[in-house]
This record gives sequence, C-alpha cells and structure tokens, in this order.
Amino acid sequence: MPQQATTGLPAYQALADHHLQARTWQMRDLFSAPGNRFAAFSVEAAGLLLDYSKNRIDATTMRLLAQLLREAGVEARRDAMFGGQRINDTEQRAVLHTALRAPRGRPLVVDGQDVNAEVHAVLDRVCAFAGRVRSGNWTGRSGKPVTDIVNIGIGGSDLGPEMVCKALRGFADPRLRLHFVANVDGHDLDAVLSRLQADSTLFVIASKTFTTRETMMNAQSARAWFLRQGGREDELARHFVAVSTNSAAVRAFGIDTDNMFPFWDWVGGRYSVWSAIGLPVALAVGPERFREFLAGAHAMDEHFRSTPLERNMPAILAALGIWYRNFFGSASLSIAPYHQDLSQFAAYLQQLEMESNGKRVRADGSDVDLATCPVVWGDVGTNGQHAYFQLLHQGTDLIPVDFIAALRPSHALPGHHEALLANCFAQAEAFMLGKTAEEVREEMRAQNLPEDRIAALLPHRTFPGNRPSNMILMDALTPASLGALIALYEHKVFVQGVAWGVNSFDQWGVELGKVLASTLEREIGGEPRPQAHDASTSALIERARQALRT
Ligand code: F6P
Repeated sequence: MPQQATTGLPAYQALADHHLQARTWQMRDLFSAPGNRFAAFSVEAAGLLLDYSKNRIDATTMRLLAQLLREAGVEARRDAMFGGQRINDTEQRAVLHTALRAPRGRPLVVDGQDVNAEVHAVLDRVCAFAGRVRSGNWTGRSGKPVTDIVNIGIGGSDLGPEMVCKALRGFADPRLRLHFVANVDGHDLDAVLSRLQADSTLFVIASKTFTTRETMMNAQSARAWFLRQGGREDELARHFVAVSTNSAAVRAFGIDTDNMFPFWDWVGGRYSVWSAIGLPVALAVGPERFREFLAGAHAMDEHFRSTPLERNMPAILAALGIWYRNFFGSASLSIAPYHQDLSQFAAYLQQLEMESNGKRVRADGSDVDLATCPVVWGDVGTNGQHAYFQLLHQGTDLIPVDFIAALRPSHALPGHHEALLANCFAQAEAFMLGKTAEEVREEMRAQNLPEDRIAALLPHRTFPGNRPSNMILMDALTPASLGALIALYEHKVFVQGVAWGVNSFDQWGVELGKVLASTLEREIGGEPRPQAHDASTSALIERARQALRT
C-alpha cells in the first residue's frame, strides 16, 4: 500500500500555516510574555532534564507537532518496534535493541524464541568474562594477566564502545588500558601495536557480519603480529575473542567459538553497544556498572513507551528537529556536550542519526516529499566556542544546538565546573537573546568611541539572536545517565524516521563504495585492470601503483 506523504498530513498543513507567523517571532518577546516558559517547555525523565524553552515555539506549535507525529503513526510504530515486529522492512528484521536492556524475566517471544532469555544468557557470559579478565583470572599465554585490550571493529562495532569507554573513564579500572582500532589505514593499528606486549594483550574482534573488510584486515594483521611476537596458533584462544552474529566466519578466522559472544540480526550495528558489542565497556567499568548503563537506557525506554507524545522527551526532541529541518530549512544540527568525557558523543551521533535517517526514499520505495536528516556535527564545549561558534552566532544559516551538561563534575579541581556551566548556559542565553544594534551602540558610547567608529562597527558587533537551542542536563555523568542519554537520541531518531517515512534501520547507501573499493584494491595492488574507469579514477590508480611499486 502506498505510504501517506508526510506533507499531505493535516497537521503538516496546519504547521505550514502556523509557521508563517512563527517565523517572525522573537524569542526575547516570547520570554517577556506572561507565564513561565521554563515550566511550560521542560520535561524530566530517566534522570535527564530537557529544557526546550529556548526554541521558536509556543503551545500551539508543540500541539501541532505532537499531532503530526500522531498522524504519521509514531505510536503504532513504536509499539510494533517494542513488540518485535519486523519494522526493518527492507531487511525483513525486527528492531529490538530495547530488548537488550530490558530486565530479566520479561519474556518477549519472536520467531518462537524468548529474546529476553537469550539476551540475559549472553549478558551473563559477557559479565562473567569481564569479571575474569578484571580479576586477573583470565591470563595470557605466559600466565600474565591482561593489561591491554584492543577492540578491532568499525562503525557501530567501534563508535559505541569507544564513546562509552571514554565517557565512563572515571569509573574504569586504571589497570586495564583500552585501545580502539577501526581504520583500515595501517597507521591506526601500527600505532597501537607498537605500544603493546603480546603476552598481556587481549584482542576483541567485533563485527556483526564478520566480513567487514577493515575489521578483517586489522584482525588478520593483529593475529600475524601475535604470532611474530612468539605466540603460537594454539595460544590464540587466550588472546583473541570475538563478538559477532556469524559463528561460521569466527571459526574460520581461528577463534574458538567458546570465546565468541553472540548477538542477533535484530540488533542494528549503530544500536549495538547494549549487546555483547559493549564487552569493552564491561571490561573497563565492570559488570555492575555495565548493568547500570543498561538500566539507564531501559528507564528511558519505559518513558518513551508509556508517555503521551506531548510529554515524551524523545518525541519532543524529534518534533523540534522536524520543526527546524522542514519549516525553517535548517540543514544541520550542532551537538555541544559541555563535558570533556563526552568528546566522542557527536561522532557517535553522526552514525546514529545520519546512517539511520540519511535517506531519500520511503519504505514503499517512493521518493520522500520533504527534507530528511540534517548534518549532525559538533565538539565539546568550551572548545567549540573558540572554533566554530562564530558561525552559529552570526553566520547566515540557522543551526539549532543541543547543549548537554552534567551539574556535578567527577573531579575535585576548584572553580572549573562553575566556569564550564557558566559558559554553557551563557552560550544558550546568547543564542537566544543576541545583542541588538541599540544595545551595541549604548555599549560603545559608554566606552567613549567616536560616532563614526560606532557606525562602522555596529553591524559587525550586532548579534541577531533568536537562535534555538535545547539544554539537556543530568546530575552527573554516570553509567545510568549516559545510558538514558543515548537511548533518548535513539528514540528521537526513530520518531523522526517514522515522521519522514524512511526506514531508519537499513544502510544500503554504504554498499556502493564498498564494492568499488574491493575492485580498486586489487588494481592498486598490481592486478591487470579489466575494468575501464573514468579518466580521473584511472589516473589516480596509476599514481598509486607507481608510488607503491617504488
Ligand atoms: O558502514 C556500514 C556498517 O554496516 C555499519 O552499519 C556497521 O556498524 C559497520 O558497517 C560495521 O559492520 P560490522 O559490525 O558487520 O563489521
């Protein structure tokens, strides 16, 4: 059955009309109007506070946006996802990352299997293994405990565990050093291996498919390195474990399937940090903290599943994104975590959002009728303030910002956290307020600048303001609050995917480059070139062949 076009929904039309007025609103005026905007436009769930009052919205905007989500079928689709239906249409798969963090004893039968029981059986194995490594009970070939863990994986098999390990480094066992190798560029693996002792190193080969070229090449090179360092084939099992859905390929690689931690095809790569792909997290922070991380995400799942869209944090975040993307034409979204330990969070969200919703056809194969996922980017505050915030304040594009901060630090350095939070809140306030020409003129007159100088500087020193932002606050960055934060964005992405009519759970767009690269790799390696390329690609191949031959 053809899908209903999003722009044809009654609420979409109503929003388009409403936008004709809303686009002229000034947030300064909205804040001066009677009533408490913070109370009206903030929501708390799973230990997170979302203050969305600094947006170009009023109560009607939010009512219409919730109506749009309802008309697009978000609630039914949400229930279908939690219920284990095959909502990933193109791959004919269920989408059950939420089941990975559901408490034990909540049966969910999919294809005749109790997913909950399977999930907890693997989770128990992951936790037991992490416990053995952390206690020194799991030893390497010469009886030494593990000191270094190298996760070899890419995309979802890298970004999630790496981001979370960085974010929770305050909870990590300092005796274990975690390394992440993703890139097929040998400089990545080489830099890590050069610092390691084979006898005390554990490699985690993480790949859902166990066919990804980058990961397989890095894994083979790591294996060869281990053997060159004096390791024997029959000792590989103590130094290599795998996380995968493909036991045949794991066996073929030479890893004992007793040391393989499985997951399932209903876990998308970018949604897999909750599965055995999170093994490096369990190794770093320990089984208990890993379970707290899962519990934090589950708390957000419960909120998302049971709260009306009007008070539903992921739905609100999604709705605001749609408001700016589709009605104001914002082509990008900036993520500004004011927490150094969230330094990888924007990179993680890039895959989550852009691989999920960077699509131009709907589930029924027809073209979408509106813009979909914006470009997602960002860096930690305050660093970004001294790099690209200029453009956010005074550039020509309207770029919404998500600020993320923890009220309490996990260090004891006096004054730093006050300064950090002051900057975070100040930026959000500055985006909203801006600085009018009148205010700038007064300021310069107070500095006794001559009138001709004031006139020349005035346009440069004026800030348009009226730039929207969200503020996501947590008490402290803990396993539970991080779990909730990631789940918040996962569900936001889900809601937007439904509203835009795309399948958020496939990623066909990455295939073409993979296929072309495998041909080119052979050609650069010296194989005759059976295939004609365009003039540019042929010349580049020739350059590479010559350089690598000499
Ligand atoms: O880049 C495409 C992709 O399939 C991602 O979705 C995935 O996270 C990544 O490659 C790695 O895949 P795998 O875990 O199968 O190695």
